[in-house]
Amino acid sequence: MISQNSIQQILSRIDIVEIVGSFVKLKKRGANYLGLCPFHNEKTPSFTVSPSKEIYKCFGCGRSGNSISFLMEAEKYSYVEALRWLAAKYNVEIEESETSPEYKQQQQVADSLYIINNFAQKFFTDALFNSEEGQDIALSYLKERGFREEVIRKFQLGYNPEARDGFTKAALASQYSLEYLQKTGLVNVRDGNSYDNYRGRIIFPIHNQSGKVLGFGARIIKKNDKAPKYINSPENEIYVKSKILYGSYFARQAIDKADECLLVEGYTDVVSLHQAGIENVVASGGTSLTPDQLRLIKKYTNNLTIIYDGDSAGIKAALRGLDLALEESLNVRLVLIPDNEDPDSYVNKVGASAFIDFVNANKKDFILFQLDIALKDIGNDSNKKSIVVNQVAETISKINKAEDFTKQQDYIKRCAEMLKIEESGLHALVNKFIREKVNKEESRVNREQRFEQENINNETISEADQETLALFNRDEVHEQAMIRSLLEFGLKQWNDEMKVAEYIFKEIEENHLEELIDNRELVRVYNTYKAWYEAGIEPTAKNFLYHDDLKMSSLVVGIMDFSYEISSNWKEHFEGHIPTREELFAEEVFSTLNYLKLRKIKRLMDENQRDLERSTAAEDQMVLVQTHQHLKQMEIELTKQLGTVIFR
Ligand code: CTP
Ligand code: MN
Repeated sequence: MISQNSIQQILSRIDIVEIVGSFVKLKKRGANYLGLCPFHNEKTPSFTVSPSKEIYKCFGCGRSGNSISFLMEAEKYSYVEALRWLAAKYNVEIEESETSPEYKQQQQVADSLYIINNFAQKFFTDALFNSEEGQDIALSYLKERGFREEVIRKFQLGYNPEARDGFTKAALASQYSLEYLQKTGLVNVRDGNSYDNYRGRIIFPIHNQSGKVLGFGARIIKKNDKAPKYINSPENEIYVKSKILYGSYFARQAIDKADECLLVEGYTDVVSLHQAGIENVVASGGTSLTPDQLRLIKKYTNNLTIIYDGDSAGIKAALRGLDLALEESLNVRLVLIPDNEDPDSYVNKVGASAFIDFVNANKKDFILFQLDIALKDIGNDSNKKSIVVNQVAETISKINKAEDFTKQQDYIKRCAEMLKIEESGLHALVNKFIREKVNKEESRVNREQRFEQENINNETISEADQETLALFNRDEVHEQAMIRSLLEFGLKQWNDEMKVAEYIFKEIEENHLEELIDNRELVRVYNTYKAWYEAGIEPTAKNFLYHDDLKMSSLVVGIMDFSYEISSNWKEHFEGHIPTREELFAEEVFSTLNYLKLRKIKRLMDENQRDLERSTAAEDQMVLVQTHQHLKQMEIELTKQLGTVIFR
């Protein structure tokens, strides 16, 4: 855990222009900087960086955020990784803070699991090589399959003997706790008896990036229809399947050198290819690739080649993860191994060099490959064809990093040719998918964002942004304005007795306005602000801007650049001097609260109206009518007061 102190130091040195500038070419334009958006394809720049606000916003695709969210988005860093990147850039020495008790506890469990796994790996390797049973049953099996001792030792393969609790006994005798032994999946307990979970199986240890054993895959030796072929470790503090690629520890250098990562399905494929001298290979275990696994690959190379057997069920799973790979700018190619072979059996059959030749001769571009298969299926069916065209367009739309622009164009051209359709049509369709995706993401954050227009050409506001503006939700604008007042003016003095923040708290509480704020995320910002304030922290927008709760920080980014306009009344009133928002802060606080009150009155009036329609007793009706008149009067007064400042 990075200490709060270090985080403060890092944040105080952040220069958003410099940070974004290391990824995007920026040109100064007035108070802001302008460049080509790194998040979508564009030819005229609409990506704007505001150094004073420490935020960026693209008028093309609508993406916005701060330095940290930029790194997270552009580099796929986690929040902590982004902080570490910044620390390295600005030479801030990171001081690790006192960790929370929960975190400490988790680390302790993790350490214990590593120790047990290490013990287990040694036990199983010893059993494989040095016990009679291991040699007779397991080692002979492995050798028969063609694995040589050298590679068996390198991958630390092992054997768990048939005896019910051979390993369990040894582990308990070495004082390992039964609870943790169960967590590793090595030991099971049934009816009060503990026994070895991987009895009679070949053991494949699974290593992390530094060679520590995270868990195991255990393969049955004797064919048995009742038992599963493999048993893998259960998820625990250290074995997180979605983050693991089998073999990555042994493959990393070779991947780097070859600038290519081969992906196969299984443990045996990895070990056999290694033995054949093909070392840049990892396995996914037959499931679709997760974002974490892709990130692991991307650390070393942009070239991913998937080698699966032609009729494996795994191929579908593998292809499922691939749109993600395209988004990550990976070049994905596919090779199918023929004749019911898998990479393991095929390399054993034809030898290393023939295997490599086959792979190189049969590598197919993933998108073209998919299209090829689909085309065979279409025939003369125009319905099917339109489905395929849409699928292809959607897939191509995932290739959308700025640096992949040419690649995307190339795909559009080639796929249009293969489909025998107009290139421009496919182009338009691809763009449609890009827009849809951006829109979806936008609404996830909030579409009411508005960037201050100072020094930005009107032409740079794209159609997409105009559409967003049209969707402007007036009610939410007022909610936002209230929170914005709090963030911006909260620490100013309201009157002799209290600060603006305290006034706002009081008004909101007294009038029960909190429940009127429909956007519950805004309520969260409000509550967090209040909690901080009451704890003696003096919160500003910056506390939120870099909050590790990204929903909250991006919301605040959106509110901060929300612009407002002073009504003409005010301009006349001040005879030429247009007051700044700073000067008008009291007015603004007052108005935003009034808007919420007005909303409340409107709702009360609606309720009253409903009661009136339902009531039959004359007396009740009298009271209700009076209430209505009273509310109406309040509404008129509030509206009058509100005439002074107009929000848009
Ligand atoms: N797998 C699994 N659980 C299973 C079956 C398979 O986790 N019950 C995973 C394993 O990682 C396995 C991979 O899927 O290595 C591929 O499965 P499969 O092709 O059946 O096994 P192979 O690795 O080819 O093993 P072998 O060559 O020994 O048959
Ligand atoms: Mn196999």
